[in-house]
Amino acid sequence: MKPGTFQQCVLPRCGATFGADEVLTRCPACGGLLDVKYDWSAAAVPRSLSVWDGRRASSGTSRQALLDQSGVWRFRELIPIADDAHLVTIGEGRTTLQQADLLAKAVGMQSGNLFLQYEGFNPSGSFKDNGMAAAFTVARYLDRPRVACASTGNTSAALALFASQTRTRGGNSMQSIVFIGDAKIAFGKLSQALDYGARTLQIAGDFDDCMRLVQQSAESLGLYLMNSVNPFRLEGQKAIMFRVLEGLAWQVPDWIIVPGGNLGNCSAFGKAFMELHELGLIDRLPRLAVINAAGANTLYELYEKQGVRFASGDVELDKIDTFYQDRKDYAAQTVASAIEIGRPVNLVKALRSLEFLSGVVREVDDEAILDGKAAVGRMGYGCEPASGASLAGLSVLLREQVISPSDRVVCILTGHQLKDPNATVDYHVAGDGGNDGELTNRPVRVEADLDAIERAIGLS
Ligand code: F0G
Repeated sequence: MKPGTFQQCVLPRCGATFGADEVLTRCPACGGLLDVKYDWSAAAVPRSLSVWDGRRASSGTSRQALLDQSGVWRFRELIPIADDAHLVTIGEGRTTLQQADLLAKAVGMQSGNLFLQYEGFNPSGSFKDNGMAAAFTVARYLDRPRVACASTGNTSAALALFASQTRTRGGNSMQSIVFIGDAKIAFGKLSQALDYGARTLQIAGDFDDCMRLVQQSAESLGLYLMNSVNPFRLEGQKAIMFRVLEGLAWQVPDWIIVPGGNLGNCSAFGKAFMELHELGLIDRLPRLAVINAAGANTLYELYEKQGVRFASGDVELDKIDTFYQDRKDYAAQTVASAIEIGRPVNLVKALRSLEFLSGVVREVDDEAILDGKAAVGRMGYGCEPASGASLAGLSVLLREQVISPSDRVVCILTGHQLKDPNATVDYHVAGDGGNDGELTNRPVRVEADLDAIERAIGLS
């Protein structure tokens, strides 16, 4: 690992520090979440953004070119965890920001102001590959051949894909072990874990049960845990924000909108902006909107209803405990299975991001999620249901006049359209609970006859 890189408890009242090569997912002193921290003076961060822009043009298949083409390692000075020779890359993060004028018009925004960051173009079809590039770099470096995660599907797909392509430093192949909830995973994602060779454990329980069990198993069985409680995962996910800024010629947008599940992404985004700001590479900050599904709305309830705040690290942990006790029997439920999570493990870091980026949290119901997804499909790139929450959240915030049509807004589309074809086909074939939504597009049964086809197309 690079000198100057270490781990630190996120709670300033503890602030304990640990070596970068210690395998930790919680602060051993107080149980808090951990950050990866850097001595930036040792990291040689370029003062000019043109260094990263220049690397985009890198071509060929040399290792240097592959690192430059990686949407994570192109920004390696901002994620200085290991020397170039140790960085793991499988082509992650080759995603770009897209201006979405048709969609802007559809939601009532000014043309030129709405952008989509489509992370579905990653090798495993979701944003998770960004984080895996960093976490696998560490697992490989520390020679940990057995890697594990709990997942609603995308983390497991990314983990399995990276494991199938990575060898440990000692040259051993890696084994991926994934914990998934019973019947709570979209088939596209399950098919990936199976195809890439993951040992796939279908646990009789939901994601929250899987998360608890994988943490226990990691400790007792020596598995290397790849969920976002592994702070190195989130270092890779910071790169999504670097690419958004790159796409905007390093002009900071007014808003970033992202769906919230286990709250790793919004935590990573906040950290990215904290560090860019600290380094003097940006001079203003975006605001952050995290969108929960109404059926999995822990962050919304705590932040918007109960007023729980990071409070510079003085988080009211008691209030959070009481909330969970009162909701003992709560079972998250939403069509957006990726974010069907009742106990998000990164809650405290998410609160920190919300504080730093003057954030808001909204909840959107399944109908709005599916309509948002359909709108992205019709006028954008398509996405899976969880990502549709970004757009549904934008509509709510426009209606509330929290976001104005002249703001510059970036919606993060977290997963590929093909991840959950059942949800899409159900929406178009069955409609919203039997009713046609605005964008319902039923297939039409037609006689095998030219006249019938002409009529069906509306030409006669
Ligand atoms: N969107 C998609 C497509 C996801 O797969 C996830 C999380 C999220 C949004 C939420 O992101 O957890 O960082 O707040 N999926 C995890 C998984 C939980 O296991 O694949 P988050």
